[in-house]
Amino acid sequence: MLPLKINNVTKIFKNPKGQEFKAVDGVSLDIEPGKIYGLLGPNGAGKSTLINMIGGLLLPNQGSIELFGLDVAKESSKTKQLIGVVPQEIVMEMAFTVEEVLYYFSGMYGVPRSERKARIKAVLEDLGLEDKTHERARNLSGGMKRRLMVAKAILHRPKLVILDEPTAGVDVSLRQKIWSLVQRLNAEGTTILFTTHYLEEAEQLCESIALINHGKLIKSGRLKDIQQEFSKNTIHFELFDRTAAPLAGVSEVGVEYEYPITADLATDMAKLTSHYNHNLKSIRSEAASLEHIFLKLTNH
Ligand SMILES: Nc1ncnc2c1ncn2[C@@H]1O[C@H](COP(=O)(O)OP(=O)(O)OP(=O)(O)O)[C@@H](O)[C@H]1O
Ligand SMILES: [Mg+2]
Repeated sequence: MLPLKINNVTKIFKNPKGQEFKAVDGVSLDIEPGKIYGLLGPNGAGKSTLINMIGGLLLPNQGSIELFGLDVAKESSKTKQLIGVVPQEIVMEMAFTVEEVLYYFSGMYGVPRSERKARIKAVLEDLGLEDKTHERARNLSGGMKRRLMVAKAILHRPKLVILDEPTAGVDVSLRQKIWSLVQRLNAEGTTILFTTHYLEEAEQLCESIALINHGKLIKSGRLKDIQQEFSKNTIHFELFDRTAAPLAGVSEVGVEYEYPITADLATDMAKLTSHYNHNLKSIRSEAASLEHIFLKLTNH
């Protein structure tokens, strides 16, 4: 049984003038157990809208979402218990202490009373938040609030954890803490789906990715396969002087340039080297970076 199955889901919002806007447009996606998935896309692509529908906070206009075989729209009280979602926006019970917030949530998510204190302690230690156990949530720094959000989402040990930009605006050491926690949860069998704008992060952590743009799924699959597909037939290079006259067939992708292999790799490499000569900063034909693929597919 798949942890998550998204079947042709569409979400339409109406603005105050009554105009309709498709934030998510016919997305279908299967998430397999035990893997780490990156959900990637530019600002406004529809990632958070999709995650909010998975979490049961928003209902799709069309299509359905299944979590471990249960329909989210029909059985949201059950499906909510099966997953842990860290939303992009910080939402919490500000007047309570860190421990109280977690105690309340562990009750809501069915953690046995006898286990609650010990689990809370362990999670706070994992996230380096133990010295804030008795601090009120409102007095935490932004990064600490984010840690508390992560703690809330994993306390009941869900088999699927979804994190919406867990590392946005957090410092380097916390970012590493979050990722080592994510990797450990994954090693223990938890399926992970997360969004990030740090593509190197996705490159390091994800086995598979799904790329969305303007609400549509434009690419999904194993990162390795996608990288191979994009680097198979092209040479990538960088120039010192970007004003140099381009060779026919060269296109610009971010800071790099790309040239489709027409003859064979050696011949085309030689052609580029002789055309650009000392202006070549780097040239390669190996795996395309995720950033390169992202820019190419989203036309940014
Ligand atoms: N409640 C809402 N009402 C109207 N429009 C909305 C609502 N929520 C989201 N949108 C719109 O839907 C689109 C997708 O937003 P969403 O938050 O899903 O993007 P995102 O991919 O998460 O972007 P980011 O990377 O910036 O977080 C945006 O154009 C946004 O303005
Ligand atoms: Mg978002």
